[in-house]
Amino acid sequence: MSALEEIRNRAGDAPIEMGMILGSGLGSLADTLEDAVSIPFGALDGMPVSGVSGHAGAVVVGTMEGRRIAILSGRVHYYEQGNAKVMQPAIQLLKGMGAESLLLTNAAGSTRMDLPPQSLMLITDHINYSGMNPLIGDPEDARFVNMVDAYDPDLRARLRRAAGASGVDLKEGVYAWFSGPSFETPAEVKMIGMLGADAVGMSTVPETILARRIGLKVAAVSLITNLGAGLSGEALSHDETKTESAKAKETFSALIRAYVKGE
Ligand code: HPA
Repeated sequence: MSALEEIRNRAGDAPIEMGMILGSGLGSLADTLEDAVSIPFGALDGMPVSGVSGHAGAVVVGTMEGRRIAILSGRVHYYEQGNAKVMQPAIQLLKGMGAESLLLTNAAGSTRMDLPPQSLMLITDHINYSGMNPLIGDPEDARFVNMVDAYDPDLRARLRRAAGASGVDLKEGVYAWFSGPSFETPAEVKMIGMLGADAVGMSTVPETILARRIGLKVAAVSLITNLGAGLSGEALSHDETKTESAKAKETFSALIRAYVKGE
């Protein structure tokens, strides 16, 4: 049975309005969906399975603020398998379920002292510093995807309104994708800051490209979990990413809920 058939069997075939992919430590938002049906990635044909701690790996379909949505709790990263298109089946699945847009969230390091840990940052644009592209090998002309306004202007406005409505101080900036899994060096963080990036991380960019390829509108938010390498004098760790992202759970959920409500 295809992944889409399996989802329809278990969760019904009413279309969803949007999909979400939640980053490190942020997956618990999926627990707040009403009438939720959770289907582990492992039960869905063709879906990638993540081994990263903090990334549960399930599609959760349900209702938030009266809207039917699907949350991919947990994502698989490029650095796990060296495959930039690893999330393609998952994103296609969301589209198959009826999603018109995709909200991506991630944990990220900051390149700026005035963008401290616990900041939420609306991604306005990105720098693909990895040199990889998930569309390499795509045989169709549609692979030449326009990346101007890749982060949809209307959805950016919707996120700003959501921040206002929920009292969240939402910063804005450019996200740079480094492949990981090692963290950046201090010299790399300094360089990418000079080149125009406000945050650095190991995800989101390939998913944005894949989503734009199939016409899904994209919005994205980074949760800053640490100052980038070299800015604080402290060593970086995945434990810190998980602890810091857990701390921001309430604020983050308030923003996302208001965004889904969409007023
Ligand atoms: N660099 C890359 N990815 C990250 C970081 C970072 O400093 N923090 C959380 N994810």
